[in-house]
Amino acid sequence: MKTQKHSALYRCIERLHGERPWGALLDAGTGVKSIRWVESLSTTRWTAVTGAANHAAEVRNAIKSGQRPQDRIVLGNWVDAELLKGEVFDTVLADYLLGAVEGFAPYFQSYLFSRLRPLTRSALYVTGLEPYVPTDRPETRAGRIVWEIGRFRDACVLLTGDRPYREYPSPWVVDSLKRAGFAVRTVKHFTSRYKERFVNTQIDLCASALETLSDRALAKALKERGAALRAEAFDVISEEGALRACRNYVVAAEPV
Ligand SMILES: C[S@@+](CC[C@H](N)C(=O)[O-])C[C@H]1O[C@@H](n2cnc3c(N)ncnc32)[C@H](O)[C@@H]1O
Repeated sequence: MKTQKHSALYRCIERLHGERPWGALLDAGTGVKSIRWVESLSTTRWTAVTGAANHAAEVRNAIKSGQRPQDRIVLGNWVDAELLKGEVFDTVLADYLLGAVEGFAPYFQSYLFSRLRPLTRSALYVTGLEPYVPTDRPETRAGRIVWEIGRFRDACVLLTGDRPYREYPSPWVVDSLKRAGFAVRTVKHFTSRYKERFVNTQIDLCASALETLSDRALAKALKERGAALRAEAFDVISEEGALRACRNYVVAAEPV
């Protein structure tokens, strides 16, 4: 059962996978988007792992009719050596997992692919975002506004006591996969076309976090800054159709 509504990255993975069976599939960093895609595939069983109880609940609610008795959602942390110990999956998906690890297991990123290696029988697909926050000021208007929103968002997240995501570049992923015992088959890039929904998600995330800030004057100034960034981003979207800035990647690897 395949549909056309899944993202370009998932469609790319389907093409790369070709006619090979998906078999038992591990969604190693699950979410609403990945589980909806996973449940549409012809797997023999799937296991979806998340580090947060609220993510697990969201994923459970997002599943349409694709959960069978052999499919499960597991709440755990990859730093825990007991998590899925001894299990093997034909296909492993690490979908925007690497960037999120900072929130759940800081400094574990270098070990993530070694941790997934014994669980992978045939294919590992890694998706991620080329880092766009810790870069020099972009030249394009769309690039600059996305960069400013990212910096603003991460500053708010830090000020309110949380850890922002930390994205890793695809060459780092390729190198880390090789060191973990994988052969990298393909690296593909896709440019995002961010619209109002992206901008609203980022700025609204900050607005709710800022409610908890005890320095109310700082919170007010930051909310105003968020409103200005939202307005500027909307201007660019109405002129250019979308914010074409960030590059996402799919890396396909196989155990050696
Ligand atoms: C950004 S979300 C994944 C996006 C998702 N695939 C989607 O559908 O959009 C990251 C996921 O990885 C999980 N995660 C991050 N670090 C983890 C860790 N150390 N152990 C287990 N799960 C982790 C998070 O709990 C979350 O479920």
